[in-house]
Amino acid sequence: MFETEQDVLSWYEAQPRALTKEFLDSVNWKEVREHPLNPAFKDVIVYMRDVESFTEIYYEELMRTPTGKNPVIRKFMERWSVEENEHAELLNRFLNEAGYPTSERWQAEARAAIPFRYTFENRLYPVITNCFGKYFSGAHMVWGAINEMTTLQGYRRLWRLADHPVLEQLLRAVAREESVHSHFYWSIARLKLERSGYTRALARFIIGKFWSPVGQGTKPQAETDYVIATLFKGRDGVDFFDQNVNQRLQLLPGFVGLENVSQRIARIAL
Ligand SMILES: [Fe+2]
Ligand SMILES: [Fe+2]
Repeated sequence: MFETEQDVLSWYEAQPRALTKEFLDSVNWKEVREHPLNPAFKDVIVYMRDVESFTEIYYEELMRTPTGKNPVIRKFMERWSVEENEHAELLNRFLNEAGYPTSERWQAEARAAIPFRYTFENRLYPVITNCFGKYFSGAHMVWGAINEMTTLQGYRRLWRLADHPVLEQLLRAVAREESVHSHFYWSIARLKLERSGYTRALARFIIGKFWSPVGQGTKPQAETDYVIATLFKGRDGVDFFDQNVNQRLQLLPGFVGLENVSQRIARIAL
């Protein structure tokens, strides 16, 4: 258990990368085509690639809020945004090796496809969060924790369902980094929520009322729903999500009994 935000940052900084040069050199890219990839997963991987690359947008948005002025979070985000971008690049390489060639300008094209509504709302967003000052950072950190936990569990489901050895090798390494990200957000959230009843009430209200799955907004809802329905399909998929995401969320101060995250997934996946 960490006692200060600085302790959480020191822990993060001591974590080695999973995507080292040695790891990347060990990937046998020629082997990708030797194993079939069920086409149902192609769009899932494209979605995940794009959402990983949109981390940069999220990062820029947060920098304009009180959360981004917190030196610990700032320091974390500098490394975190680089790691997420490398996840995007890795997934893009996999798509190409698997026989789904992507455009040279895929990043620019994915950004250009973000609906205007999202861009518009996100210009307002720092204005709103600035009104709540540093109290909003608790909600940001809980939101980030849910996103990271969802991403991590999404990758775990993907490698099990897709049953492709190279994809599994890549995703296991990516998932190790997602697990570190989850733990960072979750731990900072815990410290912030513990300290203030107002932060707890605000964070619970925001997550309870406004939470939406990672990527939704930058991506059309139909695409988010497709990814969730593919990865967390049926009772066992929803239970897996609930155990690994919602139940961990409920361990945070002020989040006992909050069910809406799993309920949202269940509505799509059942
Ligand atoms: Fe990532
Ligand atoms: Fe992450």
